[in-house]
Amino acid sequence: MDWVTIDKISHHVDKTVELRGWVANRRSSGKIRFLQIRDGQGVIQCVFMADRVPAEAFDLADKIPYESSVIVHGVVRRDPRSAIGFEITAEELVLVSEAEPYPITKKEHGVGFLMDHRHLWLRSSRQTALMKIRSVLTRSARAYFDDLGFVSVEAPILTPTACEGTTSLFEVGYFDRSAYLTQSGQLYGEAAAMALGKIYVYGPSFRAEKSKTRRHLTEFWMIEPEMAFWDLNDTIGLAEGLVCRIVSEILDKCSESLQSLERDTTHLKKVIPPFPRITYSEGVHILKNRGSQFNWGDDFGADEEAILSEAFEKPVFVTHYPGSIKPFYMKRDPADDNLALAVDLLASEGYGEIIGGGQREDSFDTLQQRIAEHGLDQGPLEWYLDLRRYGSVTHAGFGLGIERALAWITGIHHVRETIPFPRLMDRLYP
Ligand code: 4AD
Ligand code: MG
Repeated sequence: MDWVTIDKISHHVDKTVELRGWVANRRSSGKIRFLQIRDGQGVIQCVFMADRVPAEAFDLADKIPYESSVIVHGVVRRDPRSAIGFEITAEELVLVSEAEPYPITKKEHGVGFLMDHRHLWLRSSRQTALMKIRSVLTRSARAYFDDLGFVSVEAPILTPTACEGTTSLFEVGYFDRSAYLTQSGQLYGEAAAMALGKIYVYGPSFRAEKSKTRRHLTEFWMIEPEMAFWDLNDTIGLAEGLVCRIVSEILDKCSESLQSLERDTTHLKKVIPPFPRITYSEGVHILKNRGSQFNWGDDFGADEEAILSEAFEKPVFVTHYPGSIKPFYMKRDPADDNLALAVDLLASEGYGEIIGGGQREDSFDTLQQRIAEHGLDQGPLEWYLDLRRYGSVTHAGFGLGIERALAWITGIHHVRETIPFPRLMDRLYP
């Protein structure tokens, strides 16, 4: 008898199979017991009839605690009433490990309780749907760059400097000195682009941001391409292609998961090129027209981004931000030194920024001056300045935040559910 998983159950109709999983649900009706068995690939109903299974198995099916692990033997049957089209007529039930009373029940639990039990909450159908879509998202993002001939490069997690400003650094002891958890692989990505032309870094980023919003994690994942001899405009085209590829692969491969999340995909089907492109100044104009008190020169916050992203049907690129609100490495616009050649992509439906990037400062002198202006120590950045000393070229790149992209695509409210074990300002457990 073959051990089969639920995703492959359709290949085994009328065959006797072995199923290995956990009890997700149970009910009884007269001389029949129903167990919903979950095996990670899916959920299937197993039907235990008094006259078809040993008495002990029938008994066990009546009282087995939720989330106990079990092995079921039975015959796969087509069943039009089943959500997956199949059920199992059970012949045997073996208890692998009896579960203690399971803390997550059918009643509504508060978010704090669920977060404390994240290691168990992950087993729920909503959470497994999110994790499956996350997996397709990261796989399609990598495949997009792989197909374009980008080289995948790893950046260090322990770093000597800030990339995205000194206020959100996590400091860790490093023998007799300090190190910082990386905020972005970008600076190392730039070095690798000078070696390999087109690269991408995929890895975790850390920000000690004291923000308790629905889109801030202290540990999140980014995919960051960096390209030598590319400018701002080239980079925007690359970002557009990436987002379209991710969305179309998820629509294509994750329809079941999207359905179980009750995601209305109408908006996602509109995610095709070209995306609208506006400048920061045009964005400010839109905000003012919609009654916002926003001042030119301030950074867009969640409210402003929500207004802008709701103003467009598709994700919108915003470029040419004031240089003063952007990091030291951003190249200024040759036509207006107050502006940076920066780009953010604001997702639709009010989700706001999912991508940040731009063209990098390639002049040694200007970069050195910016490092000083930002109050950064030049010493630990000498290696980065070397990239401008030895064959500096126009180059650009961006970072896509995996969790924010996933929250938008799946239509969920808070990024805490988009990562297996979220790290938030007030959450380090489990
Ligand atoms: O805009 P950010 O800060 O850009 C960078 O880090 C650049 N160095 C990337 C590059 O050009 N290679 O961050 C990029 C993206 C954001 O658009 C957002 O999606 C995500 O990373 N992000 C966060 N996601 C969750 N929680 C946070 N605290 C995040 N901070 C940024
Ligand atoms: Mg940003």
